[in-house]
Amino acid sequence: MAKIEVSPGIYWIGVNDRTTDLFEGLWPITQEGVSYNAYVIADEKKVLIDMAKDLKGDALLDQIAEVVDPASLDYIVINHMEPDHTGVVRTMRRIAPQVQFLCTKRAKSMLENYYRITDGIHVVKHGEVLNLGSHQLKFYITPMVHWPETMMTLETTGGVLFSCDAFGGYGALQGAIFDEDYEDLSFYEREALRYYANIVALFPKAVLKAIDKLADAPIKVVAPSHGLVWRKDPQRIVNLYTKWAKCALGELEPGVTLLYATMYGNTEKMVEAVAHGVARAGVPVDVFDVRHTHVSYILPSVYTRRGVLIGAPTYEGELFPPMAHVLDMILRKRIQGRDVAYFGSYGWSGGARREIATLVEKLQWHLFQSWEFLGGASADKLVQAEELGYRFAQSLK
Ligand code: FEO
Repeated sequence: MAKIEVSPGIYWIGVNDRTTDLFEGLWPITQEGVSYNAYVIADEKKVLIDMAKDLKGDALLDQIAEVVDPASLDYIVINHMEPDHTGVVRTMRRIAPQVQFLCTKRAKSMLENYYRITDGIHVVKHGEVLNLGSHQLKFYITPMVHWPETMMTLETTGGVLFSCDAFGGYGALQGAIFDEDYEDLSFYEREALRYYANIVALFPKAVLKAIDKLADAPIKVVAPSHGLVWRKDPQRIVNLYTKWAKCALGELEPGVTLLYATMYGNTEKMVEAVAHGVARAGVPVDVFDVRHTHVSYILPSVYTRRGVLIGAPTYEGELFPPMAHVLDMILRKRIQGRDVAYFGSYGWSGGARREIATLVEKLQWHLFQSWEFLGGASADKLVQAEELGYRFAQSLK
C-alpha cells in the first residue's frame, strides 16, 4: 500500500507480511498475515517511528521514500527492540549514518547486543519531550509491553499514540488501515485477541500500568505497529486490552472452553454429550479438537473464559500427548484460576486422571470433577457425560 496520512504531516508507511508462516517462529499466521506498521513524521526534523522485519527491508525503504528521502532522516524512534520492528536497523544506519536512535536505556544495550550499534543513540526519559518543528513527541516508558525495554511515543499536536505491540493484533491489513474504513471489525478484533493471548498476556499488570500512565494523554489516534490504526474510536482497542488484561485478575466470561482429543472416538462421543449439557445450561462453549488445532487459536478462549472442560484418553499410562502439550502451553502462559473438569476413556489401567490432578495443582485451577471411564461410551455413560456438562456449566453462573 502507498503512504497514508494519519494526521497532518504524519504518515503510515507500513508493510504487510503474508509470507511468514509462524510469528516468533511459533504462532501461525499463514492465513491471517501480519502488518509491520511504521510511520514517518515529515517536519523540520524528519522522524521514522519503528521499522519492520528484515524480510521486508526493501519494501519499507520504498514506503519511507514516498514521504522523505531515507538518507535525510534525523531520528528513528525505537519503541521496541523485537526484530519484527528492528530487523532493518543496521540498513537504516548505513543509509542514514547521521540518524539518532531514540529509545530507552534498556533498548540501548539491546542495540549493541543484537546489532552491534553503540553510537548515535539518545536514551529518552519518561515524559521527555522532543520538538520537531510543528510536531512534538512525548515518550512514555512502558516496560513489559511487550519486552522490558518497551516504550510508547505520543505525537502531542495530532494526539497520535505510537504504541508498537500494545493495542496491536495479527492480521495483514486488508486494503485499508483505519478502523473507520471497515464496517465489520470482527477479523481485526479476533486477531487482536489472539495476538494478545499469544504475545502479551503474560504481562497483564504491565499492560494495565501502561494504560494507567496514558490516562492523561490526549490520544486521538492509536497507531500500533501491528494491525489496525484506531482513529474513529481509539478507546475501543484500549478498552479491549484493558478487558483482556483484567481476565488475568479474575474478571472472566462465564463460558467454557472444551478441549478434547480422541484416539478411536470413545472420548469424542462423550464430548458431544458434555457439550450438549453445557449448552442446555445456557452457557456458551467453544469446542477444540487439540489434535488439529494449534494452541495459538485455543489460548484466546482459555484466557477469557472461566471454565475449562478436558476430554482426553489415557495413552501408555499417561494423558494423551496432544492434550498434554496444550496444557503445558497453558501452564507456560500462567493462565491460572480457572474451573476445570476432566473426562476420558482408558483401556486397562488409566493414568490420565493422575496427570490432570498434578497439572491442575500447578495451574492453581479448581477441579470440579475428574472422571476416567473404562472402554467405550455406553448409553449410561453418555447420560452421565451430559449431566457433567450441565452441572459444570451451572457452577460457573
Ligand atoms: Fe511486534 Fe514484541 O514485537
